[in-house]
Amino acid sequence: MIDFRPFYQQIATSQLSAWLETLPLQLKQWEKQTHGDYAKWAKIVDFLPHLTASHIDLKSAVKSEAETPLSAGEQQRIIHHLKQLMPWRKGPYHLYGIHVDCEWRSDFKWDRVSPHLAPLQDRTILDVGCGSGYHMWRMVGEGAKMVVGIDPTELFLCQFEAVRKLLNNDRRANLIPLGIEEMQPLAAFDTVFSMGVLYHRKSPLDHLTQLKNQLVKGGELVLETLVVDGDVNTVLVPADRYAKMKNVYFIPSVDCLINWLEKCGFQNVRCVDVETTSLEEQRKTDWLENESLIDFLDPQDHSKTIEGYPVPKRAVILANK
Ligand SMILES: C[S@@+](CC[C@H](N)C(=O)[O-])C[C@H]1O[C@@H](n2cnc3c(N)ncnc32)[C@H](O)[C@@H]1O
Repeated sequence: MIDFRPFYQQIATSQLSAWLETLPLQLKQWEKQTHGDYAKWAKIVDFLPHLTASHIDLKSAVKSEAETPLSAGEQQRIIHHLKQLMPWRKGPYHLYGIHVDCEWRSDFKWDRVSPHLAPLQDRTILDVGCGSGYHMWRMVGEGAKMVVGIDPTELFLCQFEAVRKLLNNDRRANLIPLGIEEMQPLAAFDTVFSMGVLYHRKSPLDHLTQLKNQLVKGGELVLETLVVDGDVNTVLVPADRYAKMKNVYFIPSVDCLINWLEKCGFQNVRCVDVETTSLEEQRKTDWLENESLIDFLDPQDHSKTIEGYPVPKRAVILANK
């Protein structure tokens, strides 16, 4: 099972120490009600070999290499374990010559977001809805002091721990399996990321307030979410599914989103990027069995989702507390 005690020790002497008032008890409760496959997934992490990488690159990719390349047999054994943690959605990871070619090219998102950020060097960072943790490793690569991801999906926790093990067990990033709404307001993070989460929340203004509650005064919010074209009053609330997703609630225009952030008390709110998701960024690979973007679009007209809505377009908004 995944042991959170090293994380508690790490934060005990950090600006996150107040979290120890609630987190250990919350995770004890969480352990009693995990997903039915959690124990199996956690075992797969245990089965992975302890390897020592001679070179790790987190600056331009998430990559580990050994002095002597692994044999084909050793690689196959690792692939066999990692494939039991499918679907792999966010990546890619390059681990000891194995290319974990995930559904999403998360590096494309990082390339859109990272040039606009206040330098991450020495920052304490929260990544809300971090998935398997791809962007957390890239934040470490930018010199972050400590990166904490929170994501309630236990499969992603196990994927994260598997990758961590193949990155020399690096403890500068940690994933806590909670939702943002369960987190004690810490006002302790220098940067808070929420990427690909807002449209999944039933109450978007509450989500923005929860993000603000985690930031230090003056800290930076990095919000990435789906948007539609329109003015300050435009919000798409899909009748049922959006791009086959059941849990999509609010897709605002950029102006509307800026208004929401200002209403929540954020300052210096600005949009730094808007881009339509391409079929190169989200696609089917050998690392997932499920459908991908191409199956979510109208087969006759790729400018619409299968339900007739505008295709996924995503904005990056920065703001300060
Ligand atoms: C679309 S993915 C985005 C992953 C990653 N941040 C990215 O941008 O590629 C949304 C993630 O939010 C997580 N999530 C869902 N509800 C959440 C909540 N209440 N708090 C934090 N994360 C949540 C999901 O498990 C999923 O990993």
